[in-house]
Amino acid sequence: MSRNVKSLTELARPQVLGLIPYSPGRPMEDVERELGVDEVLKLASNENPLGPSPLALQAIREALQGLHRYPDGGCHTLRQGLSRFLGVRPEELCFGNGSNELLELVTRSFLGPGDEAVMGHPAFVVYRSVCQAVGCEIREVPLKDFTHDLSGMLQAVTARTKMVFLGNPNNPTGTCVSPTDLHDFVQELPRDVILVVDEAYREYVPRPLQPDLLRPIRDGRYLLTLRTFSKAYGLAGLRIGYGIAPVEMVEILNRVRQPFNVNTLAQRGALAALSDTAHLEETVRITEAGRRNLQSRLEELGLLCIPSVANFILVDMRRDGRAIADALLRKGVIVRSMEGYGLPTHIRVTVGTPQENTRAIKALAEVLGDGEAAVRSWNSAGERSAQ
Ligand SMILES: Cc1ncc(COP(=O)(O)O)c(C=O)c1O
Repeated sequence: MSRNVKSLTELARPQVLGLIPYSPGRPMEDVERELGVDEVLKLASNENPLGPSPLALQAIREALQGLHRYPDGGCHTLRQGLSRFLGVRPEELCFGNGSNELLELVTRSFLGPGDEAVMGHPAFVVYRSVCQAVGCEIREVPLKDFTHDLSGMLQAVTARTKMVFLGNPNNPTGTCVSPTDLHDFVQELPRDVILVVDEAYREYVPRPLQPDLLRPIRDGRYLLTLRTFSKAYGLAGLRIGYGIAPVEMVEILNRVRQPFNVNTLAQRGALAALSDTAHLEETVRITEAGRRNLQSRLEELGLLCIPSVANFILVDMRRDGRAIADALLRKGVIVRSMEGYGLPTHIRVTVGTPQENTRAIKALAEVLGDGEAAVRSWNSAGERSAQ
């Protein structure tokens, strides 16, 4: 029997062809070589500028000897430690190769063609891509004042809605909703709609604004809250995140995950990072001070900052954001342009160390051609803040 040979594109699922591949950016070493600069400053992925906790590094070094063994597929030791740390039952925890993997697992477990998912716009791009990949319909609700419009999202829920995504704080805006509003939102959602609250930046949020999501889980709500070791814990390169959810949901996610999805070094490093409260507190402290400083310097340059509770700031450049990001790159500073998020005049800047923030502002002032005055004002403010 003769058969027409189909191309791989013809064989691929249409939902997959509709996906835009994630663009991870070029390696920093590449950019350094091309620009001839000693050190590129990367403020584009909301990483921890202090680096990993020394305790995590020590634990990772000790774990190297055992790399010929498969990882602990149930993350047993980390599960016990995290359960004590959070005050949750070990069975209420699930682990992923970054919280990104958990976003994928939850959509693959529950969503398919004919289902709908509700999310804000702009929000973290991965919510959209994981939903698209499983062929479910996406209902995007525009943010209001750069913050999730919870009543708009409730209105977008239909009989076909199975899942709602809420980044809190939201990426790329850095805004969060109040715990009371979130509590009311949870109560008003139909009980069989799964709410995914992505708290990748929770550790940076001032305590009074951190929602208690354990209570609704105990009350039987279908809620999955996602956290990560990639941001405040400084372990983005290890790829480990976790979720807290009702036991029944964790059991379902465990059916679709690969048996050894979290590697040994990640498990050991994460547990040690969890115990390093000094490193976490220092991270939060320099981020908060840096964000405040960065914001006022940006405003002195005539730019508009969206008030953020995370480790990054969304900035309206009031001109082509992509052109600004490109010009900054030529000066060795990498920030994220936001055209892909539908914000063509914005850029997103991660808060760095005081020295890094100074360098970024100087570069930006030069790019804006805003001259010496801005640079001088930054220098003197930088010196004041370093004291
Ligand atoms: C809102 C949000 N959620 C999840 C992630 C993914 O983090 P992880 O490194 O844990 O996969 C990110 C990373 O940028 C993020 O910004």
